[in-house]
Amino acid sequence: MCGLQQPLGRRLLLLTVLLAQHCADATTSIQPHIVTIILDDWGWANWGYHDRLVNNQQLQKEVQTPVMDALAQHGIVLDRLYVHNVCSPSRSAFVTGRNPRHVNLINRPSDMYDPSLPLDGIWGVPAQMTGIAEKLKSAGYATQHVGKWHLGYASHHQMPSARGYDRFFGYLGGGNDHWTYKINKLSKGSCGRPSLDLWHNGAPATDKVPHHTCGVASQDGCWYEDALFEQQVTGAINDHADLNTTQPLFLTWAPHAVHVPLQPIAAQEAKFDFIDFPSRRKYAAVVNDMDRRIGRVVSTLKRRGLWDTTLLVVMSDNGGPSLVDGGANNYPLRGEKGFNSEGGVRSNAFMAGGFVPEAQRGSVANGLMGIEDFYATFCGVGGVVTLRDAKAAAAGLPPVDSLNMWPYLSGAVEMSPRDLVVVSDGHQPQAVIDRLGYKLIVGETSSKGTTTSTLPNASYVSPSFCFQRHDKHPPYAGACLFNVFADPSESTNIADAHPDVIQRLTKSLEEAQRDTLRRRYGPEPTAHQALTSPACRVSKRKWGGFEGPWIEFS
Ligand SMILES: *[C@@H]1O[C@H](CO)[C@@H](O)[C@H](O)[C@H]1NC(C)=O
Ligand SMILES: *[C@@H]1O[C@H](CO)[C@@H](O)[C@H](O)[C@H]1NC(C)=O
Repeated sequence: MCGLQQPLGRRLLLLTVLLAQHCADATTSIQPHIVTIILDDWGWANWGYHDRLVNNQQLQKEVQTPVMDALAQHGIVLDRLYVHNVCSPSRSAFVTGRNPRHVNLINRPSDMYDPSLPLDGIWGVPAQMTGIAEKLKSAGYATQHVGKWHLGYASHHQMPSARGYDRFFGYLGGGNDHWTYKINKLSKGSCGRPSLDLWHNGAPATDKVPHHTCGVASQDGCWYEDALFEQQVTGAINDHADLNTTQPLFLTWAPHAVHVPLQPIAAQEAKFDFIDFPSRRKYAAVVNDMDRRIGRVVSTLKRRGLWDTTLLVVMSDNGGPSLVDGGANNYPLRGEKGFNSEGGVRSNAFMAGGFVPEAQRGSVANGLMGIEDFYATFCGVGGVVTLRDAKAAAAGLPPVDSLNMWPYLSGAVEMSPRDLVVVSDGHQPQAVIDRLGYKLIVGETSSKGTTTSTLPNASYVSPSFCFQRHDKHPPYAGACLFNVFADPSESTNIADAHPDVIQRLTKSLEEAQRDTLRRRYGPEPTAHQALTSPACRVSKRKWGGFEGPWIEFS
């Protein structure tokens, strides 16, 4: 049974090599290429695979993801992947193998700084944490990141090159414009204004500065950002195939899609002109656009002979924004991006590629998994010697929380190693979910942005749901308890019927709150201060008006 032997970890690499000699099909035994696609704000029912399970035929026409549907059907659906409810904390967890509460719980601009705080004083992933690319690089991987970064860049120690990526092409903040590459309002540019945000390796991508008329639609000489990223990803695969396919490749592709601003290419949007509601139409068009890009990249992997030894992972960083401007649909999950209801934190996710053992293809993994678990999983399949993070330990930072899911996902063991998922708000843990599906949630949450199957644009299904502002702290009077396996929509609070479960999960939540890493940052410059701030001066003087690291250059 060669297929079942593939999950072997680093300790058994030698054995794997021996097995490979016996297995005609054992090309997948050693160090897979790992290609990870992290979509931005991709809602639950905006994946055809989920949509078909629950929605009516009209909605099914809105969601066109044939490539990802087919990949999942021949791969492994990760049915219980939990993420943070907004971007940067999820991405921070992915890169560092920490639960978000142990690395970073907020999205902030990069010009906050307090030099008197020795640990960091700046926003983003602490410089002293070892990233997944550094780990895989130590095991011989070639590494590249394409697309959104959003892990902090005030210090050059926070930049992709300092995190183990040989190559990088993308933007540093939380979002930018698809045509002008100007950072969006939410992330705020270094001078308090939208500034250019696109980097190539160690410098601003000055050769990609769009001319001033770019910004409304596709025109000659203007480049749609996700097209640039796709081109970079394809180039990375081709270059790698040309150079040395024996060396394993770790490639992370973090597209702009489906984050606002929703700017589908006109021809794409026209395909969905039967949808009246503008944000829904644009969202559907961008999701389908991304599906096509993924299809072309998978074709390149196949054509260049890498697919059979590739582990492809596709996920979203958080749930879809489903209120009027967002356009996403998380049905039947409650709530949306920014909240700890399932619609905010349960992610679309699957694995595919030739490295998935044959016996597991077409399976659904129901076991609990947190986004931090990819770190140990990739280290396991990639032959990384240790998960220990000495740099972080020396700085007094929390160790890696990540659990290797590969023995479970590959079918070597029956149960997920994870028995508790911890979900936080912007300050500390707010919910825990156990392996029986019980979810204890405390403090303020919301049903804002809840979609129904017949009303694709969101509404408030039941206002002030589970709204107990004053009960964020133990003993959490008024906490809600759901069983999200039996009741994925979190419609019935069963707290009164299960005092024993409440008691058990209260303890878990209390512990998680106690061991949260309390980060401290400098103040955010006011709009007026921003104009003369060091971040602004460095951006103008050193980076030609682009966003970039500034602390060491000011
Ligand atoms: C190709 O990569 C493998 C694994 O990293 C390495 O052992 C080998 O020396 C490389 N070959 C060439 C020609 O660079
Ligand atoms: C959703 O769309 C329907 C139909 O277009 C409209 O009647 C309704 O007001 C919208 N609801 C919200 C919350 O925007």
